[in-house]
Amino acid sequence: MHSGSWECTETAEWLLNRTKICPVLAIICGSGLGGLADKLEESVTFNYEDIPRFPTSTVPGHAGKLIFGRLMGHDCVCMQGRFHFYEGYSIHTVSYPVRVFSLLGVKTLIVTNAAGGLNASYNVGDIMIIKDHINMPGFSGQNPLCGPNDERFGVRFPCMSDAYDSELKSKLRGAAEAMGVAHFIREGVYCMLAGPSYETIAECKLLQKLGADAVGMSTVPEVLVARHCGLRVLGLSLITNKVITDYDSEEKANHEEVLRTTQRQTKLLQDLVLKFIYKAHFTDKITKCCTRE
Ligand SMILES: *[C@@H]1O[C@H](CO)[C@@H](O)[C@H](O)[C@H]1NC(C)=O
Ligand SMILES: *[C@@H]1O[C@H](CO)[C@@H](O)[C@H](O)[C@H]1NC(C)=O
Repeated sequence: MHSGSWECTETAEWLLNRTKICPVLAIICGSGLGGLADKLEESVTFNYEDIPRFPTSTVPGHAGKLIFGRLMGHDCVCMQGRFHFYEGYSIHTVSYPVRVFSLLGVKTLIVTNAAGGLNASYNVGDIMIIKDHINMPGFSGQNPLCGPNDERFGVRFPCMSDAYDSELKSKLRGAAEAMGVAHFIREGVYCMLAGPSYETIAECKLLQKLGADAVGMSTVPEVLVARHCGLRVLGLSLITNKVITDYDSEEKANHEEVLRTTQRQTKLLQDLVLKFIYKAHFTDKITKCCTRE
């Protein structure tokens, strides 16, 4: 169980003992989107299984590495491979790394994922800026903030109406315009389901009625914990397939299709994030560094 804060303190201290990088920015790379981590300069890599009290990943296509380095002049930490609730982890364990990031001095979190498009106007390969989310597991009590509240991180009842930072969203749009790829950009509501089974047709129709534009099996727990401890969040979903809402359709959701599309548009998403980081001025750079002192 990874809800105890002394555990993340130990993890953070262990990491800080082994790198000179003091990250202000953390990036959680979704399915097949781990290539960003290869762009880090002066990088130091840790396998999840070597990091004390860190969970380990079990999904094919999700390498389990934490990589520290510099990206466009900013000290960053990158998660190559995230933890999913459907792997059998508790919802607290899934979001554990975010508390570690907070203790490392991170102020901004970028989360990426692969998602199914629910909105009829979305195309495969679009990139959706997450403007809001629906925490479906939360409806049944699966919220990583359940349990005793650690005041060191944040308040008991954190606000979520501003979960996705509007300044970061508009900077991402700016980056897309500068690159001439604004036609791939959407903005919408991400709905998390627990998975691992994909949605039924009836479930897809329900989610559409609820106002969700994309559906996936991640991201929300990390965002909840990030907002609780005051990190600014940018969320991006790569639309890797369109959900099926027609009973006569011969198509079936499959992991291979997701991986294929991801490979194709992955470079665009990576370039976009790099451009965004290049343009963004993380003003909290240098001012606060690490928990060492
Ligand atoms: C970090 O380094 C300090 C100083 O060498 C040491 O006392 C401490 O036990 C280390 N912490 C971890 C978690 O490795
Ligand atoms: C779908 O996306 C479009 C464009 O982003 C948006 O205007 C619309 O409200 C969304 N929802 C539905 C149900 O079409």
